[in-house]
Amino acid sequence: MNDHVVIVDDDPITLKQLRRILENQGYRVSAFSTPQRVLQHLEKTPCDLLISDVKMPAMSGMDLMTQVRGRFPAVEVILVSGYATLDGAVAATKEGAFHYLAKPFTPEQLRQRVQEALAHGKARRMAAGQGLPPLLIGASAAMRRVEALVRQVAAADCTVMITGASGTGKELVARALHALSPRAAKPFVAFNCGALTETLIANELFGHEKGAFTGADRCSPGLLEMADGGTLFLDEVGEMPLAMQVKLLRVLQEKEVIRVGGTRPIPLDVRIVSATAKDLKAAVESGALRDDFLFRVNVFNIHLPPLRERREDIPLLAYHILHRLQRRGASKISAISQEAMALLTRYAFPGNVRELENILERAAAVCHDEIIRVSDLPPDLVELELREYKRPEGPLMTLEQLEQDYIAHVLKLTDGARARAADILGIDRASLWRKLKKYGLD
Ligand SMILES: Nc1ncnc2c1ncn2[C@@H]1O[C@H](COP(=O)(O)OP(=O)(O)OP(=O)(O)O)[C@@H](O)[C@H]1O
Ligand SMILES: [Mg+2]
Repeated sequence: MNDHVVIVDDDPITLKQLRRILENQGYRVSAFSTPQRVLQHLEKTPCDLLISDVKMPAMSGMDLMTQVRGRFPAVEVILVSGYATLDGAVAATKEGAFHYLAKPFTPEQLRQRVQEALAHGKARRMAAGQGLPPLLIGASAAMRRVEALVRQVAAADCTVMITGASGTGKELVARALHALSPRAAKPFVAFNCGALTETLIANELFGHEKGAFTGADRCSPGLLEMADGGTLFLDEVGEMPLAMQVKLLRVLQEKEVIRVGGTRPIPLDVRIVSATAKDLKAAVESGALRDDFLFRVNVFNIHLPPLRERREDIPLLAYHILHRLQRRGASKISAISQEAMALLTRYAFPGNVRELENILERAAAVCHDEIIRVSDLPPDLVELELREYKRPEGPLMTLEQLEQDYIAHVLKLTDGARARAADILGIDRASLWRKLKKYGLD
């Protein structure tokens, strides 16, 4: 269902403009000219976001927000003001506004703020529902498909292969499959097949009998037995040695395991969920995976697309990660600046969601107020963007115009952090200050 946005402004023209921009974005919009009508509406209709003017005759936007936050805590609030001051903005965010938007703003600015506020609200609601099975955050069509598949397949109890690049959430999906399955009360056992010799893997998975090898002074059940009744997660299954694939195939077919050094078959009821970052077809062609083994473990495939192919998930994931850091007490950060978010949503994320987590954790550690800004993001990421500087379209520029435009570009990327901007520009701070004055950029 479309997100429901309520707008209130005593100026009918602004109200109409807001409505048009938001409806073009596909939101469900209810518009009102007084705060009282908004409160009446919220009593009856759930809503995701309130966009309120600050100066209204009967009740100020700040007062309306205070009431809404108290009575309808799920609603996010954006305040819009023609008299935006830094003090006003700080006060508003302290009172719980998601953002304080200064008039005039472009449709693009509004669109981005609304998208972020809605993402923030969703992450907040998800965080409030702790204790639920592990959650897949994501609003993209691709992630919703994955989520639907996970629910469907979890109940079906079949063997699943999860594919996707590193950090895309394969283990999270494996845990979700287990938590949503009838096996949820039984163990979930994870095993990483990478970088282990055949002997070690056999020992881990199958266990051993007493005296199976020197040092085996007592019998030890393997992970397969430990996962009995539950789920065994074979991570990096593409790294499994070929001989091991043969042995494991037999276990899966017979549904019984024989410990190393033993003869007694032990019956097993285990669901196998595997994961690999490798391309399955290529792995079979190169001979790294046996096709009979793959056939057995790849009954059902769930593929996780890389983050750069579902960029609309980035704000949602970013706020989800921020909430998690807050809950751990690791951070007081409550927001991400518009420029920083814009940068994040353009970045290619070779390390996918894990890389986003690392970037935000690092940013939260170096950030010294409550908002993550561009200057808190890793320098390479910022520089990557800088390399994409394009001079404005139009007639050829003078050197001075080019200098002015480039300085403005760098300042934007550094969120106005002048020391860092001067660093990037290769000049000292005093020279930067002179240039800013000269070009009227301060
Ligand atoms: N859709 C998502 N919603 C919430 N958190 C996610 C999502 N996808 C990934 N994560 C988080 O990102 C991190 C990496 O995910 P995970 O370990 O499942 O990836 P992976 O594909 O197994 O990575 P690797 O190939 O490196 O082992 C985890 O902390 C996980 O919780
Ligand atoms: Mg993993």
